[in-house]
Amino acid sequence: MDPLKINTVKLSEDGSALVIIDQTLLPGELKYLSLTKTEEVWEAIRALRVRGAPAIGVAAGFGAYLAAKHAPAGQAERSFYAACDYLATSRPTAVNLFYALERMRAAMGRLSGGPEGEIVAGLRAEAQAIMDDDLEMSRRMGEHGMALIKPGMGILTHCNAGALATSGLGCGLAPVYAALDAGVEGLRLYCDETRPLLQGARLTAFEGVTLGLETTLLCDDMASALMREGKVDIIIVGCDRVAANGDTANKIGTSGVAIMARHYGVPFYVCGPSSSIDMSLPCGAQIPIEHRAAEEVTELWYARRMAPEGVKVYNPAFDVTDAELISGIITEYGIARAPYEEAFRRWGL
Ligand code: MRU
Repeated sequence: MDPLKINTVKLSEDGSALVIIDQTLLPGELKYLSLTKTEEVWEAIRALRVRGAPAIGVAAGFGAYLAAKHAPAGQAERSFYAACDYLATSRPTAVNLFYALERMRAAMGRLSGGPEGEIVAGLRAEAQAIMDDDLEMSRRMGEHGMALIKPGMGILTHCNAGALATSGLGCGLAPVYAALDAGVEGLRLYCDETRPLLQGARLTAFEGVTLGLETTLLCDDMASALMREGKVDIIIVGCDRVAANGDTANKIGTSGVAIMARHYGVPFYVCGPSSSIDMSLPCGAQIPIEHRAAEEVTELWYARRMAPEGVKVYNPAFDVTDAELISGIITEYGIARAPYEEAFRRWGL
């Protein structure tokens, strides 16, 4: 299923630009941006014009290729490595960014020393392969995860882990898309609004409504009441980085949802491709957590600033959910159950 039939992120036909939807404007405006310079790609990732762990990785891969393509003659290799280093500073938490840049560097390692035209063509092929692999991983996560989705279920999700967060086939919502494709009826999607950047209210709600799915928006602090009323049968979220033991960094607020889910006995699943699993980190304490500008909390969505000048602000973009709160981790290989490290190693991660 191609749920939204809009391209979150792709390369232009002539291979000269990265084309993304500016997600900061959704749902009010569907605007595509054509980016050619490394600084533009960096800014688009940093400002969340393109966001969601898999989509960030795909954008960075194309960004690294474009640096080589648009470099002055004889400078492709130098420009490429400078772009990789720079793009790696755009956001710290989603490991997909580093996974994609590592793949691009490895491709350059194989191509280095050849004619520049071949280097550029090889980098384009690798960046496209990162995107194609992302689509395939989404498809397979959907297939595995849809076994969890039964007719009439209420499904709660946090942040946006749908088509917009990926190359187009979703991550946390991939099982829902697959279930809809298979004709599963009566599904109800609940979207946490996801303060402070409202990815749930702006993006997941947009996706749900566009799909014609019964979609209900709630403020983050209403999730407990909804679970208490018995409206939530399953929770599925995406992830930005999963440590070897299964501890999972995802959008701020996710760990609170998992704690409530345990209290109310609601199964809590994480869905993520292997490109989001970081086996080099034993547990979640080592995952770097991005902190963002105070103004996102104090004024971003208000006609006038709503918090007093001088107040300090706590604004981490992600939190870590302990592995023991997670019922299972849906990947392209299947659904991992605790102990997660053993399951991941069995899959060769
Ligand atoms: O800050 P964002 O919008 O990039 O955060 C995105 C999330 O936290 C998603 O849940 C995560 O990247 C998984 S998306 C498939």
